Amino acid sequence: MPRIRINDIELNVLDEGQGPPLLLVHGFPLDHTMWRAQVDHFRGTHRVIAPDLRGFGQSDVTPGTITMQRHAEDLAHLLDALRVKEPVCLCGLSMGGYIAWQFIQMHHRRLSSLILCDTKAGADDEAGKKTRELVATRVLKEGPEFLAASMPEKLFSQTTRSERAAVVSETQAVIRRTKPEGIAAAARGMAVRPDVTSLLAAIEVPTLVIVGAEDAITPADGMQTMAAAIPGARFVSITGAGHMAPLEDPAAVNAAMEGFLRSDERVYG
Ligand code: MLT
Repeated sequence: MPRIRINDIELNVLDEGQGPPLLLVHGFPLDHTMWRAQVDHFRGTHRVIAPDLRGFGQSDVTPGTITMQRHAEDLAHLLDALRVKEPVCLCGLSMGGYIAWQFIQMHHRRLSSLILCDTKAGADDEAGKKTRELVATRVLKEGPEFLAASMPEKLFSQTTRSERAAVVSETQAVIRRTKPEGIAAAARGMAVRPDVTSLLAAIEVPTLVIVGAEDAITPADGMQTMAAAIPGARFVSITGAGHMAPLEDPAAVNAAMEGFLRSDERVYG
């Protein structure tokens, strides 16, 4: 996969297929491989662009605090570097959704549509911010093993954990490979992200909201409320899936995305 220079760093980027651009933005503390089923499905009809964000996967790391705005700026520079001039469908999961909120505010003309998976519009409360700092401090001290061990219970539904052990262990392997400085910088960046709830009513692009019905991190009822605040948004709940719905039930998520993209491209394309 090519590494693309974005100002001060290089990002590792999957860029496959031809057609309307579909930009896939991964969650924390993962990399672009969480989208493998969507890449396989959509590269026949779309130009699928799936970067490892700054600090993750094979991309360069910037220590400190990397805000969601900074990640969104990286995405805009990445699209420039890849000469993507037409508006993109931005599909973000969880932290990828937090980044999408910033992209909407800074680059709304570059968006054709939005797909928000397992994410939320609210900011962290004080307890949440403290937990982020504990995670950042601990990962810098002892590495990501404690996250690889503890996160699957929150990331995946009970069904996935008991029936799809390979998906869980592959995700743990990604977390183990992620550099502590990248994890800490993103955790600190998420802690300072703003509440964007008041922006939802102003979203003008077609939007699809997808949630795993058993999502323990960004629960389905909160996402349904969020979807109801976005004008015309579609809401799809994936039975049997948790926070990592695109990995846990790729067929259902791909079908929801495909139906949305087809109707969106027919109306707006
Ligand atoms: C993610 O999946 O990106 C994280 O769960 C986001 C978060 O920790 O808020």
